[in-house]
Amino acid sequence: MNSKPAQEVAQQLGNIPQNNEKLQAEIQRLNRKSFIPLEQVQILHEWLEGKRQARQCCRILGESRTGKTIACDAYRLRHKPTQQPGKPPTVPVAYILVPPECSSKDLFRLIIEHLKYQMTKGTVAEIRERTRRVLKGCGVESLIIDEADRLKPNTFKDVRDIGEELEISVVLVGTDRLDAVIGRDEQVKRRFQAGHRFGKLSGEDFKRTVEIWERQILRLPVASNLSSKTMLKTLGEATGGYIGLLDMILREAAIRALKKGLQKVDLETLKEVAAEYK
Ligand SMILES: Nc1ncnc2c1ncn2[C@@H]1O[C@H](COP(=O)(O)OP(=O)(O)OP(=O)(O)O)[C@@H](O)[C@H]1O
Ligand SMILES: [Mg+2]
Repeated sequence: MNSKPAQEVAQQLGNIPQNNEKLQAEIQRLNRKSFIPLEQVQILHEWLEGKRQARQCCRILGESRTGKTIACDAYRLRHKPTQQPGKPPTVPVAYILVPPECSSKDLFRLIIEHLKYQMTKGTVAEIRERTRRVLKGCGVESLIIDEADRLKPNTFKDVRDIGEELEISVVLVGTDRLDAVIGRDEQVKRRFQAGHRFGKLSGEDFKRTVEIWERQILRLPVASNLSSKTMLKTLGEATGGYIGLLDMILREAAIRALKKGLQKVDLETLKEVAAEYK
């Protein structure tokens, strides 16, 4: 590639100015992901507890960016693994995120490695057996499989067997695509009949969440009043109630406002960012 024209342009425009240290520190703070224990997360955790204790298989459904992954991972973290000397670790809740086109062997590898064991060579039957031993040895009671619609159709049979034979609550997490995939096999469908839906935010819930984000995530020097009527309307239209979008827009608006030298997010900046997400 001929980089000469690019070099000339860069030279003419000069170096992009660096942010001052204080601003840079604030931007870094705003870029750090934080977890908020929202009410819907707590409701999900209670539901998952019930399924774990009853060893029932189930599904968690929700559109993309509604917070399923974060909520499930937080559930796993609330069940800390324990280990006594000379014994395998006890891991009550295991969580794996599956790659596209996931075969049974890929699934077994993920489980084995998540539980900190080494994957060994062998036939699928041998590795299946090893996976069962590892799951049993670690006392897994709940196995959460995120992006489960990526499992190959035949892999669902293995997933079902793990639940049935080891009496583990297997939790499949995904978008509505998951239902379409599961629906093809009557036995799998029945086994994973119980479902919990993770939704978009609306009404008072949305307003409350915006307030929480302003207070706990943005934490700017001056109040932005993001839950005032016009601000809330702008946010509602741009995010459609998806928490992932709300998080992105608010962080970006805060950074942009600080770069303008403002102490809070004003309506103009919010509208600017929101317009990009329409
Ligand atoms: N409880 C929460 N606290 C803080 N941020 C959250 C929370 N829930 C969701 N988010 C924000 O929303 C984003 C999307 O969440 P997450 O990845 O869990 O969605 P998802 O439903 O798994 O989406 P997908 O179906 O695309 O995988 C996160 O990256 C985070 O920025
Ligand atoms: Mg996810």
